[in-house]
Amino acid sequence: MKRTLLLVILIVGFVALSLSTAIYAGDKVSDVIKMENAAYDKHEKSIVEFTHKKHIEDYKIGCGECHHDANGKPLNDLKAGDNVSGCIECHKIASKAPREPKLSEKEQLQYHAEAIHQNCIDCHKKFKKETGNKEVPTSCAKCHIK
Ligand code: HEC
Ligand code: HEC
Ligand code: HEC
Ligand code: HEC
Repeated sequence: MKRTLLLVILIVGFVALSLSTAIYAGDKVSDVIKMENAAYDKHEKSIVEFTHKKHIEDYKIGCGECHHDANGKPLNDLKAGDNVSGCIECHKIASKAPREPKLSEKEQLQYHAEAIHQNCIDCHKKFKKETGNKEVPTSCAKCHIK
C-alpha cells in the first residue's frame, strides 16, 4: 500500500515537473514562431507570428539580444542547434501586468507579456529612431494583427 502511494507521488511529481519546464530543442526551431504560449488560459489578443529566422539572418540580430541565462546575462555564444529555455520558464506569470498598482521594473518582468513586450518593442523603437524606418512594429495592432 505504502509502495503504491509512493509510486503515485512519484508519477504525479514527474508529470508536474514535465509540465512546468519549457525547454525547446534547438534542432526543431521554426522559421516563424507562433507566439501562443500554452501557459495562457486564453489569449486576449491575436497570436503574433514572430519571424525568428528573419530576425537572425536578414536583420542580423545576435542570439544574446533576446536569449539570456538565469542571471539575465546575454547568451551571446548560443548557436543553431542549441536548446533554449522558453521565456515563461523565468518570466512566469502568463499575463500582462495589471495597470494598477504601479509595479517596480523587477515585478513587471515577472509577467511574461511585459518581458516579451520590453524585449521586442524597446528594440523596435530604438531601430525606428535610429533609421527612421516606419514599418517596424511598435503599436499593438501592428503585431497583434486582427
Ligand atoms: C529578436 C529576438 C531573438 C533572436 C535574435 C533569437 N531568438 Fe531564438 N527565440 C526568440 C523567441 C521570442 C523565442 C520563443 C521563446 C518562447 O516562446 O518562449 C525563441 C525561440 C528559440 C528556440 C526554440 C524554437 C522554437 O521553435 O520554439 C531556439 C532553439 C532558439 N530560439 C535559438 C536561437 C538561436 C540559436 C539564436 C541565434 C542564432 C536565436 N534564437 C536568436 C527570440 C530570439
Ligand atoms: C533562465 C531564466 C530566464 C529566461 C529563460 C529568460 N529570462 Fe529574461 N530575464 C531573466 C533574469 C534573471 C533577468 C534580470 C531580471 C532583473 O534584473 O530583475 C531577465 C531580464 C529580462 C529583461 C529585462 C532586461 C533586458 O535584458 O532587457 C527582458 C526584456 C527579458 N528578460 C525578456 C526575456 C525574453 C523575451 C525571454 C525569452 C526569449 C527571456 N527573457 C528568457 C531570466 C530569464
Ligand atoms: C534587437 C532588435 C529586435 C528585437 C529584440 C526584436 N525585433 Fe522585430 N524587428 C527588428 C528589426 C531590425 C526589424 C526589421 C525592420 C525592417 O528592416 O523593416 C524587425 C521587424 C519585425 C516585424 C515586421 C517584419 C517581420 O519580419 O515580420 C515584426 C512583426 C517583428 N519584428 C516582431 C518582433 C517580435 C514579436 C519580437 C519579440 C519576440 C521582436 N520583433 C524582437 C528588430 C528587433
Ligand atoms: C512587437 C510586437 C508586439 C507589440 C507591438 C505588442 N505586442 Fe503584445 N505580445 C506580443 C507577443 C510576441 C506576445 C506573447 C504571446 C505569447 O507568447 O503567448 C504578446 C502578448 C500580449 C498579451 C498577453 C497574451 C494575450 O493575448 O492575452 C497581451 C494582453 C498583449 N500582448 C497586449 C498588447 C497590447 C495592448 C499592445 C499595445 C499596447 C501590445 N500587446 C503590443 C507582441 C507584441
